[in-house]
Amino acid sequence: MAIKKVGVVGCGLMGHGIVQVSAQAGLEVVALETDAGALEKGLGRIRKSLDKLASKAVEKGKKTADVAKAEADSAFARIKGTGELGDLADCDLVVEAIVENLDVKKSLFAKFGEICKPDAIFASNTSSFAIGAMGEASGRPGRMVGLHFFNPVQLMRLVEVVRTDATDDDAFSEARAFGEAVGKVPVSCKDTPGFVVNRLLVPYMVQALLMLERGDASKQDIDTAMQFGCGHPMGPITLTDYVGLDTTLFILEGWCENYPNEPAFQIPEILKRKVSEGKLGRKTGEGFYKWDGDKKA
Ligand SMILES: NC(=O)c1ccc[n+]([C@@H]2O[C@H](COP(=O)([O-])OP(=O)(O)OC[C@H]3O[C@@H](n4cnc5c(N)ncnc54)[C@H](O)[C@@H]3O)[C@@H](O)[C@H]2O)c1
Repeated sequence: MAIKKVGVVGCGLMGHGIVQVSAQAGLEVVALETDAGALEKGLGRIRKSLDKLASKAVEKGKKTADVAKAEADSAFARIKGTGELGDLADCDLVVEAIVENLDVKKSLFAKFGEICKPDAIFASNTSSFAIGAMGEASGRPGRMVGLHFFNPVQLMRLVEVVRTDATDDDAFSEARAFGEAVGKVPVSCKDTPGFVVNRLLVPYMVQALLMLERGDASKQDIDTAMQFGCGHPMGPITLTDYVGLDTTLFILEGWCENYPNEPAFQIPEILKRKVSEGKLGRKTGEGFYKWDGDKKA
């Protein structure tokens, strides 16, 4: 793999995980944050996670304590935290994992186009925006891909590798190789709304909410049906609470605006109402269910 040095921009929920798995794969990593507090928090989470993995490996008898500690230390030492965009200049791959706001992302990619070396690959971890729009903003559409990781990055095995009509073949195959190098199972897909997973998952959640709205079944019965009828780890209403009702609404609003003729994209009234009441799911303690931390109350 030609990728040896990776820049990750945004060290929040997703970014810190991408930084960690890259460092664990032996790559040199630049972790860029605009917010010094967020950078400190992100690096702290990585250190904790590496230490936890090391002690698990020792407990299971897979490694000696010395080896496990040395590996965790060297992974952490490969990470350079920074607030300077210029530190991305010699990165082979730059992965963006900042706030889900297209204008903010586009202005960041325009800066990458000015700063980064000519053959650098640019990637976005966006869940809902067109990868092509960011490629255009960078001025280097041929170097742009999507690398859509799943939360938590350290545990979830999938990465969707997204190519636009403009993506160069070598940029795409290098991005796939990077996905494999960081221990993920890559799937390739075109630059379409929701890629593969969210294109299937979000309309499924919508159908469950419409069913609830019509009174066809209770929320508990809808969830139980999908858990025990389809073997899903949780039902769709619980899943919506997990993802966040605001996040789900935000994705749907963007899709409905941009693809008004796609019947799978619609916004249940019950979702709008809950969000306007501030009931955003697990993170606010109430969505469709009441929550006590990670558990239903
Ligand atoms: N949360 C998820 O489950 C999930 C899953 C897949 C993809 N995503 C996508 O990943 C991206 C990041 O989401 P998140 O949940 O990690 O968000 P987050 O809010 O936890 O982290 C974003 C971080 O980016 C930083 N940031 C904002 N603007 C910046 C800039 N210009 N330069 C550098 N840093 C900047 C913020 O300080 C923050 O720490 C979004 O595009 C989101 O859609 C999220």
